[in-house]
Amino acid sequence: MPVQVRAPRGLAGVIVAETRIAKSDSDGALVYRGYPIRELAENAGFEETAYLILNGTLPNRSQLSEFSSTLAAEGGVPYAVYEIMRRLGKDVRPIDALRTACSALGSVDRRSTVAAVQASLEAKMSVLAANCRRVPAGEKPRGPREGLGFAANLLYMLTGKVHEGYDLWVFERVLMFYMEHDLNASSFTVRVVASTLADPYAAATAGLAALKGPLHGGANEGAMRMLLEVGEPEKARRYLDKAFSDGRKVIGFGHRVYKKFDPRAVLCKEYLREMLRRRGPDDRLFRLCESIEKEMWERKGIPANLDYYAAPIFYLLGIEIPLYTPIFAAARVFGWMAHYNEQVAENKLIRPDAEYLGAVDLRYVPIANR
Ligand code: ACO
Repeated sequence: MPVQVRAPRGLAGVIVAETRIAKSDSDGALVYRGYPIRELAENAGFEETAYLILNGTLPNRSQLSEFSSTLAAEGGVPYAVYEIMRRLGKDVRPIDALRTACSALGSVDRRSTVAAVQASLEAKMSVLAANCRRVPAGEKPRGPREGLGFAANLLYMLTGKVHEGYDLWVFERVLMFYMEHDLNASSFTVRVVASTLADPYAAATAGLAALKGPLHGGANEGAMRMLLEVGEPEKARRYLDKAFSDGRKVIGFGHRVYKKFDPRAVLCKEYLREMLRRRGPDDRLFRLCESIEKEMWERKGIPANLDYYAAPIFYLLGIEIPLYTPIFAAARVFGWMAHYNEQVAENKLIRPDAEYLGAVDLRYVPIANR
């Protein structure tokens, strides 16, 4: 029996795995495979970054071309999966439809190697994410367009429009920020499932379940709903007074690791400001975001996180709010698969202990006597 150690609640600060994929720290640094996030945001694209996360090095031209071609070629979703999504009906939450679709895909996919399964899953997740509201609502799925890169295709499938220029550039950066974040709740979940040697579909389905919650991936939808509810910068203080007095968490703020600032939120804030500047003189959305952020920092010392500034970017791009968390999944699946592979390569079943606080030695009471 190994020595028992009591971990803090929520495993805060406990190192439970070794990783070479990414590292975030409380000073606001984030590196992917050694590269600072700003360095990648300024120089790399989505496919290059995904290759880096999965393989550990930046691709050369032929590696990048092969990786991008595989992603483009593997996007076809089996009919059975769309049929299952359709039967869920129009009232299903898109993130639930996506989780069901991912599980269904794992049931019908006959690929035999882990690498082939992962390529299929990575490519199809974005197609399913873009269609997880449309298909249950009885609309025809919108497939990828030939000749568009990953980000352009996802944005096209989400909105029906081919975006270019700065808007597309920003969307691609947001996807890169969502791609990976060391031992976040969903990646840890994926590693737990991988440690049982279940397949990547099972691990990704579990990852999606963990991602859904408002404390994790569901926060981008919650943040946008809050911004719309507050509506005007002048109403931020009153909104927060009420949230604090009700003891409610303000969605889009706070982070287990980042206590001063979230570097991804800092970059997204710059991008949002520039997107709005290019659209004209109306900067109310930016002032609204800043007013809540300022109040949260001054009154609670809690910084905005990625979800807070990703949400208004998605909003400006014309994406429906219930698709924000599915977009997160379409990007994070690459990080999940990197964690899956890292876990399996040096596997040890993840099976912690719990301290039992319940009763002992009770005597069975027949049902008639209870
Ligand atoms: N609003 C109000 N208070 C907050 C918030 C918030 N968003 N975040 C933290 N706090 C407070 C807590 O109430 C707690 O106060 P207390 O010590 O008086 O009880 C203190 O700050 C510490 O917070 P914890 O919840 O213990 O911090 P933890 O590291 O466990 O939680 C978490 C991090 C879950 C992200 C939290 O900040 C939160 O719930 N945020 C809102 C949801 C959210 O935006 N999630 C997205 C995370 S980023 C991502 O997934 C990409």
